[in-house]
Amino acid sequence: MERAKIHAQGPTFSRIIAGAWRWHNVSPETVERLALAALEQGITSFDHADIYGDHSNEEAFGLALKKNPSLRNQMELITKCDIKFPSAKRPATWIKHYDTSKEHILWSVENSLKMFHTDRLDLLLIHRPDPLMDPHEVAEAFVQLKKEGKVLHFGVSNFTTSQFRMLQKHLPMPLVTNQIEISLSRIDPFFNGDLDLMLELGVSPMAWSPLGGGKLMAEERDMFGKATKYNASYSQLALAWLLRHPSKIFPVIGTTQPDRIKEAAKAIDIHIDRQDWFEMLKWVMGAEMP
Ligand SMILES: NC(=O)c1ccc[n+]([C@@H]2O[C@H](COP(=O)([O-])OP(=O)(O)OC[C@H]3O[C@@H](n4cnc5c(N)ncnc54)[C@H](OP(=O)(O)O)[C@@H]3O)[C@@H](O)[C@H]2O)c1
Repeated sequence: MERAKIHAQGPTFSRIIAGAWRWHNVSPETVERLALAALEQGITSFDHADIYGDHSNEEAFGLALKKNPSLRNQMELITKCDIKFPSAKRPATWIKHYDTSKEHILWSVENSLKMFHTDRLDLLLIHRPDPLMDPHEVAEAFVQLKKEGKVLHFGVSNFTTSQFRMLQKHLPMPLVTNQIEISLSRIDPFFNGDLDLMLELGVSPMAWSPLGGGKLMAEERDMFGKATKYNASYSQLALAWLLRHPSKIFPVIGTTQPDRIKEAAKAIDIHIDRQDWFEMLKWVMGAEMP
């Protein structure tokens, strides 16, 4: 598996990242198998969030790390904070909202470290743009976490270009990514400036739901014979299509099946020809480029 820096100042991740959003749907044993299957394929970077599985997925993954302590140094851990919603585990929250206060960011990181049984996160993302975000407070939290060695790198998710620029202006360290939805079923970032900004700033995006959350697979068809041409499955083609972009998109795959992790990893070896890329785009746009 190819590895690459997501930003000139780091960190280095596997080009395909394993996402744990759906991993509460499987047993703790399967969570461990998924982690091991990913590592076996060279997929060393794992994407989490404090809220996944109603605040349980970090803990389930952490149990696998506790059981196999040598795994932590073979992987990069990404997690997120700022979304809050009513849950038996968070009795003080009565309405879904976002919280980028310094106090909450620091608390959330402490909690994630505890859940993972680790002393550091490789990357912390602000999960969704908070309309009440005070960038000075975020900067204070990030500076403290970096100084304490608890978080090595910082980024955001689902930020617009102006939100990204605004927060970056207030930080002494680079935002190393914006994790956004990009796939053959969500092509807006290719045209709305999201990927332009990434190229301008030398930041690589992470693509969540790179298979449209499975929607693309439900529509599976051999796009103009491409699967035959590339000797690839449709999911591999959909990932290779993202990997082809010059901003160096890091797809975050969401499967709960170890065999599909293995299948996805092979996408890295497929180089989609420019005209095939446009033909796949035409298929989802329903029309040729103007
Ligand atoms: N930042 C954010 O706001 C945000 C939002 C959403 C997700 N994410 C991140 O992105 C990750 C991926 O999201 P996602 O789960 O929607 O990604 P995805 O890879 O687009 O979709 C995965 C889903 O597709 C299904 N699927 C059907 N056929 C498949 C095939 N041939 N190969 C692989 N999967 C197939 C999977 O089922 P099986 O499990 O049965 O394989 C699973 O339900 C999440 O885990 C999370 O880390 C971030």
